[in-house]
Amino acid sequence: MSKKQIYNPQSSEIVKNRKIIGGDPTGIFELNDLKYQWAYNLYKVMLQNTWFPEEVQLNGDARDYQEKLTQEERSGFDRALSQLIFMDSIQANNLNDNINPYITAPELNMCVIRQAFEEVLHSHSYQVMLESFSKNPKEIYNLWRTNEQLKAKNDKIAGIYMELAENPTDKNIIKSFFANVILEGIYFYSGFLYIYMLARKGKMLGSAIMIRLIQRDEVTHLSLYTSMIRENMRENAEIFTDDFKEEIREMFREAVNLEISWGEYINSGLPSNLLRSYIEYLADSRLLKLDLNPLYARFKNPIEWVDEFSKINETKANFFESQSTAYVKGGLSFDEQDDNNLWDD
Ligand SMILES: [Fe+2]
Ligand SMILES: [Fe+2]
Repeated sequence: MSKKQIYNPQSSEIVKNRKIIGGDPTGIFELNDLKYQWAYNLYKVMLQNTWFPEEVQLNGDARDYQEKLTQEERSGFDRALSQLIFMDSIQANNLNDNINPYITAPELNMCVIRQAFEEVLHSHSYQVMLESFSKNPKEIYNLWRTNEQLKAKNDKIAGIYMELAENPTDKNIIKSFFANVILEGIYFYSGFLYIYMLARKGKMLGSAIMIRLIQRDEVTHLSLYTSMIRENMRENAEIFTDDFKEEIREMFREAVNLEISWGEYINSGLPSNLLRSYIEYLADSRLLKLDLNPLYARFKNPIEWVDEFSKINETKANFFESQSTAYVKGGLSFDEQDDNNLWDD
């Protein structure tokens, strides 16, 4: 598979023949006529979600970090944050340098480019968070050099993307779409959960608000890759053999094991069976949306408060009383439950 040409006057591809991968685009972003209306809808949702890290109040977090967190909580927080920093870092480069060059429909390029911007914004938000509470941000940025658990998780995540970089085939780019679903939909969640658990105890509330804004973005990213995979199930049906689907389910199984051991390591204080069932539930719900057989038969979120906690657009009072949680500037909400609306023209 070769990268698309950025200017391709020889192409005579018409809109209805656009393909997500393997198309022959002219290079013109002709958007009045679309093949993938859902992608354009998703792009607009992403725009409506625009936010800026400096707008989140982090005043209390410096005091909490120094005075309220126990030693154990502080190191759990540092580890969780360091892992989130890695994932947003690799995503920005991966999307720009590795994935977008092979995406051949302009309405999809718009989404991937916007996504890359959001990953950069998330890196920016970690810088703002670190500046607010840490006397030594370098320590957290460099944790992967000394912490083997962290390095192992990062290596695993990077591995699938490196496979695409080294051997760009149709199958490997589709595998990288699944890797995106796993990153956006599983690998973030022990870290998010840890920070929400602290906020539930009244600690690091500004950081939790930042994480909710990040999570809202990640949910749209999850939706993007789920939808791209579903389109590819039609456009490149021959790749989705039973063996390939099993390979993908195995990827999910490995990711679940890795995420559970990471979650246990950073130790949010949750009983480990609850953490396990939560991560398994996340994996099953992602698989179901991809029309793949679930692995664990976990169909109900065992930690229901997380859903309530992570919603941005709630106007009812909750424990983040000091800050407005109805943050969104436009009128458009997008929680995970709503992603079916994308397909309404
Ligand atoms: Fe991100
Ligand atoms: Fe993301």
